[in-house]
Amino acid sequence: MKIGHIELPDKPLFLAPMEDVTDQSFRHICKEYGVDVMISEFVASEGLIRDCEKSMKKMQIDPIERPFGVQLYGNRTEAMAEAVKMAESAEPDFIDLNYGCPAKKIANRGAGAGLLQDIPLMEEMTRAVVENTRLPVTVKTRLGGDHQSVNIVEVAQRLQDAGIQALSIHGRTKAQMYQGQADWETIARVKHHPDVDIPVIGNGDIVDAQGAAMAFDHYGVDGIMIGRATVGKPWLFKSIRTYLDKGFIPEEPDIAEKVAVAKQHLQKSLEWKGHPRGIYEMRRHLSNYFKGLPHFKPLRTRLVTSLDEKELHDTLDYIAEKYAHFDASKLKSDSFFHY
Ligand SMILES: Cc1cc2nc3c(=O)[nH]c(=O)nc-3n(C[C@H](O)[C@H](O)[C@H](O)COP(=O)(O)O)c2cc1C
Repeated sequence: MKIGHIELPDKPLFLAPMEDVTDQSFRHICKEYGVDVMISEFVASEGLIRDCEKSMKKMQIDPIERPFGVQLYGNRTEAMAEAVKMAESAEPDFIDLNYGCPAKKIANRGAGAGLLQDIPLMEEMTRAVVENTRLPVTVKTRLGGDHQSVNIVEVAQRLQDAGIQALSIHGRTKAQMYQGQADWETIARVKHHPDVDIPVIGNGDIVDAQGAAMAFDHYGVDGIMIGRATVGKPWLFKSIRTYLDKGFIPEEPDIAEKVAVAKQHLQKSLEWKGHPRGIYEMRRHLSNYFKGLPHFKPLRTRLVTSLDEKELHDTLDYIAEKYAHFDASKLKSDSFFHY
C-alpha cells in the first residue's frame, strides 16, 4: 500500500499512537522489531500554535523512525490549518488527524472522536489541513459516536473527497471507549465499499500473529495498527512479520533478551525525558516486559517504585539471573496491559 507517494511494504504494520506510551524511546524499540510505520503521540493544535514546549517535543523525529507521521487534534479549523504548517517544519513524512480520541476532556470539546458528531466540521477541518500542507494527510477515527450512529462508511467517503490518503479505523464507537470488542466486520465493510479507494488500516484488539493474519486475510484491510498489545511486547511486530512472510511464529525472546530490551528502553527514556520523568514514564513498560513470570510480584514492585537508575539496573540483572532457565513458552498472559 501507499500513503500518498510513500511506498510501504506489503501488509504494513503500524504502531498505534498512544499518549505517554509511544514516545521516541519506545518507537526505537518497536523499529528494531520490525514495525513499518509510526505516528507521534497526539499533538494539540492549540498548544502547537502557542509554541507549547511539550507539543514541539512530541514532533521531534529521529531519521530511523521514518516513515513517520505527526498526529494533530483540535476543534477549530483555523488552529488546525495553522498547526499543520508548524508540524510540517518538523519534517514528518505525513500528517495524521486524530478524529478518534474518546477522552471526555477532548471529545466533549468537539475534538477527537467528538468530530464524529459534527461531520461538516470534520470535513471542513480536513480540507483546510490538506490545503495547508504539501504532505499526505491521513485520518485515524472510530466507527461513530455510538452504536446507533455508526457512520464510518459515510465518513470514509467524505474524508476521501476532502483529500486524505489513508484511513485508520479503530473498530469501536466513541461511546464504547475501550469496552466490548472491536467490530472488524464494519471495518471490512468500509474497506470493501465500492466508493472507498483509499487504503484502510484496521485497528483494535490485535494481540497475536494469528489475529494479524486474520485482519489481512479475512477482513481484507491494507494495513494493521496495533497498540496495547505491544506494551511489554514490542517483539510482537517480529512475530507477526515472520508469521505473515514465512508461516511460523518465532520463539518468545528469552529473559536475557527481555532484560536487554528493558535496559535499552530505560536508557533511551532517560535520554529523552530526563530524570525523574524518564523513569516515571517507563513504569508501565517495565511492569509489562516481565508479565506472566511466576512469583514476580516483589520484583515488579521494585521496578515500579524505584527512582534510582542503578537500582533499576540491579533489579533487571537480578531478574535475568533468577529466571535464566525459565521456559518462555510457559508464559501465561496474552492480555492487554491495564489501562
Ligand atoms: C494509553 C493510550 C493512549 C492512546 N493515545 C492515543 C493517541 O494519542 N492518539 C490516537 O489516535 N489514539 C490513541 N490511543 C488509541 C490507540 O491508538 C488505539 O486506537 C487503541 O488502543 C485500540 O488499538 P489496540 O486494541 O491495538 O490497543 C491511545 C490508547 C491508549 C491505550
